[in-house]
Amino acid sequence: MAVAGVDLAVDSGSAVALMGPSGSGKSTLLHLLGGLLRPDAGRVMVGDVDVGRLTGNAAAAYPREVGFVFQRFQLLPALSAVNNVLAPSLPFRPSAQLRGRARSALATVGLVDEVDAVPSMLSGGEQQRVAVARAVFGAPRLVLADEPTGNLDSVTVQGIIDLLLDCGQKLVRR
Ligand SMILES: Nc1ncnc2c1ncn2[C@@H]1O[C@H](COP(=O)(O)OP(=O)(O)OP(=O)(O)O)[C@@H](O)[C@H]1O
Ligand SMILES: [Mg+2]
Repeated sequence: MAVAGVDLAVDSGSAVALMGPSGSGKSTLLHLLGGLLRPDAGRVMVGDVDVGRLTGNAAAAYPREVGFVFQRFQLLPALSAVNNVLAPSLPFRPSAQLRGRARSALATVGLVDEVDAVPSMLSGGEQQRVAVARAVFGAPRLVLADEPTGNLDSVTVQGIIDLLLDCGQKLVRR
Protein backbone atom coordinates (compact mmCIF):
# COMPACT_ATOMS: atom_id res chain seq x y z
CA MET A 1 0.00 0.00 0.00
CA ALA A 2 1.61 3.25 -1.16
CA VAL A 3 -0.34 5.62 1.09
CA ALA A 4 -1.72 4.48 4.45
CA GLY A 5 -2.79 6.24 7.61
CA VAL A 6 -2.72 9.72 6.10
CA ASP A 7 -4.94 12.23 7.86
CA LEU A 8 -4.49 15.60 6.22
CA ALA A 9 -6.67 18.71 6.09
CA VAL A 10 -5.74 21.70 3.96
CA ASP A 11 -7.53 25.04 4.27
CA SER A 12 -9.01 26.63 1.20
CA GLY A 13 -6.72 29.34 -0.14
CA SER A 14 -3.57 27.85 1.32
CA ALA A 15 -0.47 26.37 -0.28
CA VAL A 16 1.06 23.21 1.11
CA ALA A 17 4.35 21.52 0.25
CA LEU A 18 4.47 17.77 0.72
CA MET A 19 7.95 16.45 1.46
CA GLY A 20 9.24 12.93 1.87
CA PRO A 21 11.78 10.45 0.54
CA SER A 22 11.52 8.79 -2.84
CA GLY A 23 8.85 6.10 -2.80
CA SER A 24 7.08 7.50 0.27
CA GLY A 25 3.83 8.05 -1.64
CA LYS A 26 3.82 11.75 -2.55
CA SER A 27 2.79 11.19 -6.17
CA THR A 28 0.23 8.60 -5.14
CA LEU A 29 -1.35 11.04 -2.67
CA LEU A 30 -1.55 13.74 -5.35
CA HIS A 31 -3.13 11.27 -7.79
CA LEU A 32 -5.72 10.43 -5.13
CA LEU A 33 -6.48 14.14 -4.65
CA GLY A 34 -6.74 14.66 -8.39
CA GLY A 35 -9.17 11.77 -8.81
CA LEU A 36 -6.66 9.88 -10.95
CA LEU A 37 -6.57 7.01 -8.45
CA ARG A 38 -9.31 5.78 -6.16
CA PRO A 39 -8.54 4.93 -2.54
CA ASP A 40 -9.01 1.32 -1.47
CA ALA A 41 -10.09 2.67 1.90
CA GLY A 42 -10.75 6.03 3.48
CA ARG A 43 -12.11 9.21 1.96
CA VAL A 44 -10.70 12.02 -0.14
CA MET A 45 -12.76 15.21 0.09
CA VAL A 46 -12.03 18.36 -1.92
CA GLY A 47 -14.48 20.96 -0.71
CA ASP A 48 -17.72 19.03 -0.56
CA VAL A 49 -16.71 16.71 -3.41
CA ASP A 50 -16.04 13.09 -2.45
CA VAL A 51 -13.26 12.59 -4.98
CA GLY A 52 -12.83 8.88 -4.31
CA ARG A 53 -16.43 8.11 -5.21
CA LEU A 54 -17.14 10.31 -8.22
CA THR A 55 -19.50 8.96 -10.86
CA GLY A 56 -21.34 10.26 -13.91
CA ASN A 57 -21.44 14.01 -14.51
CA ALA A 58 -19.52 14.79 -11.34
CA ALA A 59 -16.68 12.54 -12.48
CA ALA A 60 -16.64 14.31 -15.84
CA ALA A 61 -16.71 17.77 -14.24
CA TYR A 62 -14.08 17.30 -11.53
CA PRO A 63 -10.98 17.37 -13.79
CA ARG A 64 -11.93 20.93 -14.82
CA GLU A 65 -11.56 21.98 -11.19
CA VAL A 66 -8.01 20.65 -10.97
CA GLY A 67 -4.73 21.67 -12.57
CA PHE A 68 -2.20 18.85 -12.40
CA VAL A 69 1.54 19.11 -13.05
CA PHE A 70 2.70 15.53 -13.52
CA GLN A 71 6.09 14.44 -12.28
CA ARG A 72 6.92 13.31 -15.82
CA PHE A 73 5.06 16.26 -17.39
CA GLN A 74 2.77 14.14 -19.65
CA LEU A 75 2.74 16.64 -22.47
CA LEU A 76 1.05 15.56 -25.68
CA PRO A 77 3.99 14.82 -27.99
CA ALA A 78 2.33 15.82 -31.27
CA LEU A 79 1.14 19.20 -30.03
CA SER A 80 3.07 22.46 -29.87
CA ALA A 81 3.64 24.10 -26.49
CA VAL A 82 0.74 26.51 -26.98
CA ASN A 83 -1.59 23.69 -28.03
CA ASN A 84 -0.51 21.68 -24.99
CA VAL A 85 -1.58 24.63 -22.83
CA LEU A 86 -4.88 24.77 -24.70
CA ALA A 87 -5.38 20.99 -24.72
CA PRO A 88 -7.74 20.91 -21.70
CA SER A 89 -10.03 23.27 -23.66
CA LEU A 90 -10.03 20.98 -26.68
CA PRO A 91 -11.78 19.62 -28.73
CA PHE A 92 -13.38 23.05 -28.88
CA ARG A 93 -11.72 25.32 -31.39
CA PRO A 94 -9.91 27.95 -29.32
CA SER A 95 -10.69 31.58 -30.11
CA ALA A 96 -7.88 33.91 -31.10
CA GLN A 97 -8.30 35.52 -27.69
CA LEU A 98 -7.91 32.21 -25.87
CA ARG A 99 -4.89 31.33 -27.98
CA GLY A 100 -3.40 34.72 -27.10
CA ARG A 101 -3.89 34.00 -23.41
CA ALA A 102 -2.15 30.66 -23.79
CA ARG A 103 0.79 32.43 -25.41
CA SER A 104 0.84 34.88 -22.50
CA ALA A 105 0.82 31.98 -20.07
CA LEU A 106 3.90 30.56 -21.77
CA ALA A 107 5.55 34.00 -21.71
CA THR A 108 4.92 34.10 -17.97
CA VAL A 109 6.98 30.94 -17.55
CA GLY A 110 9.72 32.33 -19.81
CA LEU A 111 8.85 30.49 -23.01
CA VAL A 112 8.18 33.33 -25.46
CA ASP A 113 10.18 31.74 -28.27
CA GLU A 114 9.03 28.17 -27.67
CA VAL A 115 5.27 28.49 -28.15
CA ASP A 116 5.26 26.59 -31.46
CA ALA A 117 7.81 23.94 -30.48
CA VAL A 118 6.72 20.35 -29.87
CA PRO A 119 7.87 18.80 -26.57
CA SER A 120 10.69 16.75 -28.14
CA MET A 121 12.33 20.02 -29.18
CA LEU A 122 12.28 21.36 -25.62
CA SER A 123 14.61 20.73 -22.70
CA GLY A 124 13.29 18.94 -19.62
CA GLY A 125 12.94 22.19 -17.72
CA GLU A 126 11.16 23.82 -20.66
CA GLN A 127 8.72 20.91 -20.88
CA GLN A 128 8.15 21.24 -17.19
CA ARG A 129 7.30 24.93 -17.58
CA VAL A 130 4.81 24.11 -20.34
CA ALA A 131 3.24 21.62 -17.94
CA VAL A 132 3.00 24.29 -15.22
CA ALA A 133 1.46 26.81 -17.65
CA ARG A 134 -1.07 24.18 -18.75
CA ALA A 135 -1.98 23.33 -15.16
CA VAL A 136 -2.72 26.89 -14.09
CA PHE A 137 -4.15 28.16 -17.40
CA GLY A 138 -7.80 27.45 -16.72
CA ALA A 139 -7.58 29.04 -13.23
CA PRO A 140 -8.52 25.75 -11.56
CA ARG A 141 -9.81 25.70 -7.99
CA LEU A 142 -7.05 23.29 -7.01
CA VAL A 143 -3.52 23.03 -8.40
CA LEU A 144 -1.65 19.80 -7.69
CA ALA A 145 1.98 20.02 -8.70
CA ASP A 146 4.21 16.96 -8.46
CA GLU A 147 7.82 18.16 -8.12
CA PRO A 148 7.13 21.11 -10.46
CA THR A 149 10.57 22.63 -9.97
CA GLY A 150 12.73 19.50 -9.85
CA ASN A 151 14.55 20.17 -13.12
CA LEU A 152 14.97 23.92 -12.88
CA ASP A 153 17.60 26.45 -11.85
CA SER A 154 16.97 28.56 -8.74
CA VAL A 155 15.84 31.71 -10.60
CA THR A 156 13.33 29.79 -12.70
CA VAL A 157 12.21 27.92 -9.58
CA GLN A 158 11.23 31.20 -7.93
CA GLY A 159 9.26 32.21 -11.02
CA ILE A 160 7.40 28.90 -11.04
CA ILE A 161 6.62 29.13 -7.32
CA ASP A 162 5.33 32.69 -7.77
CA LEU A 163 3.20 31.56 -10.68
CA LEU A 164 1.75 28.64 -8.74
CA LEU A 165 1.01 30.88 -5.75
CA ASP A 166 -0.86 33.51 -7.72
CA CYS A 167 -2.00 31.55 -10.74
CA GLY A 168 -5.47 33.02 -10.42
CA GLN A 169 -4.08 36.53 -10.78
CA LYS A 170 -1.76 36.23 -13.74
CA LEU A 171 -3.78 33.89 -15.89
CA VAL A 172 -7.33 34.86 -16.59
CA ARG A 173 -10.07 32.28 -16.36
CA ARG A 174 -11.16 31.23 -19.82
N1 LIG B 1 0.76 2.28 -10.18
C1 LIG B 1 1.33 1.73 -9.11
N2 LIG B 1 1.01 0.49 -8.72
C2 LIG B 1 1.56 -0.07 -7.64
N3 LIG B 1 2.47 0.54 -6.88
C3 LIG B 1 2.83 1.77 -7.22
C4 LIG B 1 2.29 2.44 -8.34
N4 LIG B 1 2.84 3.67 -8.43
C5 LIG B 1 3.69 3.73 -7.41
N5 LIG B 1 3.69 2.61 -6.67
C6 LIG B 1 4.46 2.36 -5.45
O1 LIG B 1 3.95 3.22 -4.44
C7 LIG B 1 5.01 3.71 -3.64
C8 LIG B 1 4.96 5.22 -3.62
O2 LIG B 1 5.23 5.73 -4.92
P1 LIG B 1 5.11 7.25 -5.26
O3 LIG B 1 5.35 7.37 -6.73
O4 LIG B 1 3.82 7.79 -4.75
O5 LIG B 1 6.30 7.86 -4.41
P2 LIG B 1 6.92 9.32 -4.39
O6 LIG B 1 6.95 9.75 -2.96
O7 LIG B 1 6.20 10.19 -5.34
O8 LIG B 1 8.40 9.06 -4.88
P3 LIG B 1 9.40 9.98 -5.79
O9 LIG B 1 9.94 11.03 -4.84
O10 LIG B 1 10.46 9.01 -6.22
O11 LIG B 1 8.61 10.55 -6.91
C9 LIG B 1 6.30 3.15 -4.24
O12 LIG B 1 6.68 2.06 -3.42
C10 LIG B 1 5.92 2.68 -5.61
O13 LIG B 1 6.65 1.54 -5.98
MG1 LIG C 1 6.73 11.13 -7.06
